[in-house]
Amino acid sequence: PFRQDTYLIDGELREWKGEFTNIYSTISSTEKYERTLLGSVPSLGKADALEALHSATEAYNKGKGLWPTMKVKDRISAMLKFVKQMEKQRDEVVKLMMWEIGKNLDDSHKEFDRTVEYIYDTINAYKELDNESSKFVQRDGVYALIRRGPLGVVLCLGPYNYPLNETFALIIPALIMGNTVIFKPAKHGVLLFTPLLEAFQNSFPRGVINILYGRGRTVAPPIMESGKVDVLALIGNSKTAIALQDQHPKKNRLRLVFGLEAKNPGVILPDANLDLAVNECVKGALSFNGQRCTALKILYVHAKIKDEFLKRFAEKVDALKFGNPWDEKVALTPLPEVDKPAFLQELIDDALAKGATIQNKKGGQRTDNFIFPAVLYPVTKEMRVYNEEQFGPLIPVKPFSNINEIIDEISDSKYGQQISLFGEDPHELSPLIDMLVNMLCRVNLNSLCQRGPDVFPFTGRKDSAVGTLSVHDALRSFSIRTFVSFQNN
Ligand code: G3H
Repeated sequence: PFRQDTYLIDGELREWKGEFTNIYSTISSTEKYERTLLGSVPSLGKADALEALHSATEAYNKGKGLWPTMKVKDRISAMLKFVKQMEKQRDEVVKLMMWEIGKNLDDSHKEFDRTVEYIYDTINAYKELDNESSKFVQRDGVYALIRRGPLGVVLCLGPYNYPLNETFALIIPALIMGNTVIFKPAKHGVLLFTPLLEAFQNSFPRGVINILYGRGRTVAPPIMESGKVDVLALIGNSKTAIALQDQHPKKNRLRLVFGLEAKNPGVILPDANLDLAVNECVKGALSFNGQRCTALKILYVHAKIKDEFLKRFAEKVDALKFGNPWDEKVALTPLPEVDKPAFLQELIDDALAKGATIQNKKGGQRTDNFIFPAVLYPVTKEMRVYNEEQFGPLIPVKPFSNINEIIDEISDSKYGQQISLFGEDPHELSPLIDMLVNMLCRVNLNSLCQRGPDVFPFTGRKDSAVGTLSVHDALRSFSIRTFVSFQNN
């Protein structure tokens, strides 16, 4: 097992002597896909959390030009130094990502590349933003030098499914805008930050970035209750997000950046190109075992084509290969969350009891830490799988005859991220797209739902998000417009 003894607070890589939290990998070197102990990280407590907060607060308030007021070109140099050191750690980070969260080799490399690209794109966007924001304006004899400045101390909690990309989509824009950050990784996908600790330490002034390990419910509350956090940035579930927000004594003045749950629908219209729809829906529902907030989580299929669609879709799902993340052409891998297979089984049992059947031969087959994707049909509003986000390999399919039924369901849903529409007739599609884009935030035409490319705005309505993430939007989410003014007297 791998032991992560050091953590980063106040610019120091500290050695931990106390209790450790164990991290279980989802995989083993055998063919049995057993859960094995991969490593452990320090189980930090309240005192460490408050020290990280103190360090971030001092670095923000008393940095005296060290970070918040640092020149743009110097902040860019720090970020470039970081990303260049990070690129040297690719093999270590990718290996840990495969082991810890079971992401396959190809996708782990893609996530690494995508994150590096995200950092370079952010640096360029920051230069542009600085050029356009730093304006000298005058009106009625009052002159103002307008800028974009940081907000303060950011508490950031990252998810396990895109531990690198989604975490960096929060902390990179927060840092480059001059904020200071306390970051707590998720339980799975924490070891992979180890190879990056020195890069953080070497690139940023002390206290600007602090990395805390341990249980969220132990380290996050003392930080929030202090009232000293200015921005709460989180990718995860709304229960945790709301609980943390509520712990802040002045929660109404807290800036929030949340990426939360979604139940993105895929709609297959009667004139859809079925091969294309099947391929995109399999990828959209099952990439990384469906553990994406952007995954397709319910499919609506028109009654006229449902038999043909279900047949092709079920075959394609059954043809997906399950195995170790590092094996070639593996699409499905073990699930990092210990209780996920049992939760998915409950959703399946509930749907079967209420009249659905499993459409694919391998659907629901279990191992210790995996459950083969089950295609459930016909799904109704009474079923748990209709109402709850499965965040795993399970695909509910619901028939429809009139598109207005789907519009009503989307309007009643508590989620509002995006949709995939499969169809060919522009006269049919055009008014539908106009309506849907005002109900959700992205309409994908004949393609899967996704967040990327990361330069595009990523957000959601209702319970799916607060604030917008994208290379450009995130810079605005983590900053405020300020100005210095004077007048001719
Ligand atoms: O879970 C959300 C991730 O950001 C997914 O990103 O949809 O572009 O693969 P993606």
